[in-house]
Amino acid sequence: MISHKITKGINGEPKIPGDKSISHRSIIIPSISNGICEINNILKSDDVLHTLNAFKAMGVKIEENGGKLTIYGNGLNSLKEAKNEIYLGNSGTSARLLTGLLSSQNFKSILTGDKSLSRRPMKRISDPLTKMNAKITTVNGSLPIYIQPSNLVPCNIELMIPSAQIKSGLLLASLNIEGETEITEFKVTRDHTEIMLESFGANIETKIINDKKIIKVVGKKELLSKNVDVPNDLSSSAFFIVSALINDNSKITLKNINMNPTRNGLILALKKMDANISLINHRSSNNEKICDIEVVSSNLKGCELDQKFADLMIDEYPILAVAASFANSPSIFRGLKELRVKESDRLKLIHLNLRNCGVECKIENDDLYVYPSKKYNIKKNVIQTDFDHRIAMAFTIMASKIGPLNIKESEAINTSFPNFKDEFNKLGGKIF
Ligand code: S3P
Repeated sequence: MISHKITKGINGEPKIPGDKSISHRSIIIPSISNGICEINNILKSDDVLHTLNAFKAMGVKIEENGGKLTIYGNGLNSLKEAKNEIYLGNSGTSARLLTGLLSSQNFKSILTGDKSLSRRPMKRISDPLTKMNAKITTVNGSLPIYIQPSNLVPCNIELMIPSAQIKSGLLLASLNIEGETEITEFKVTRDHTEIMLESFGANIETKIINDKKIIKVVGKKELLSKNVDVPNDLSSSAFFIVSALINDNSKITLKNINMNPTRNGLILALKKMDANISLINHRSSNNEKICDIEVVSSNLKGCELDQKFADLMIDEYPILAVAASFANSPSIFRGLKELRVKESDRLKLIHLNLRNCGVECKIENDDLYVYPSKKYNIKKNVIQTDFDHRIAMAFTIMASKIGPLNIKESEAINTSFPNFKDEFNKLGGKIF
């Protein structure tokens, strides 16, 4: 895919897809609840379809009608052993959440994934589950994962790696354990699982004590299904937000965007950089915060972000680094270790591709330094993505300012935002 420079700015109201994290949970949780529910505005991307197919393969009746799902849930122990291995493509969220959920079921499961997912660390979820007496085997700490049925026991678990995927896998396992499981988080991670479990009637309680979050779940309580309206995805909006900021004569409006405070770091960071962004029409749906966003071209300044920002916006660093490349002063983003174990080594690819685009930058101790230039001499106009959707989309936006850039393996964008190219071109983008 080639993305070209644009000259007239981007303008309009793009259709942003449903939130990826909430879409996964909107399939998983109703599938183990009691009752029939409708899920509206589900994200139909490769990652979410893998979760959907997994539950169909485990016998859950799910009807699809456009962006709407009807899920017929039959309770905590209603899933059936899948006939084959469960293939999860590129989806780390499916892999971690399903490892937790399935280790508490009374049948065996095998989880597999594509090349990139099969390289990602899975001991971070299998180790704490093993403490709960789960019987899980990984291959060198990665997929395939083999899960044997086992009676899990309640435990107190401290989350040493800040990860919503690990936390959510453990919470899903604890739903089916007799007794009280306690999970302690030292850093903020997205809380969509807690929010949805609470609204489905789980016996879950969260408390903040001395900056720690303690989540207690008493298992074996059946959940009651509810309809869910999935809000639109801030992480997908991020690409258009930054494109509007860095290209002159731009003005866009993004509607119905999830603004969960555990995930709004990008907006806080861009505001620190003097971005002209307005959040309007605040409301909530299914206990998730939502608003509309207006963005106008801005003269950005650089900023220094400490590690706390990484907790609130880990997926947005590729596009934030693009924004920083067009600021009028340098930026430092600290504490980006977790970026190395995402769909690709994102820290490495941000650095490599920025340099190829003529932007000076360096990595020191997992901190990224970006030095914007006045001229962008493209050294190599091929963007290496290693099949990572967010690297591909971030550098498509880079190209809107300095292009053309040839974005390799751009089909990876289907992981989270299948209509990305069409929506961007409707706003004035030039991707061919
Ligand atoms: C996600 C959690 C994050 C994020 C991923 C989605 C989720 O991963 O990067 O895109 O839906 O729980 P970690 O939990 O590994 O930080």
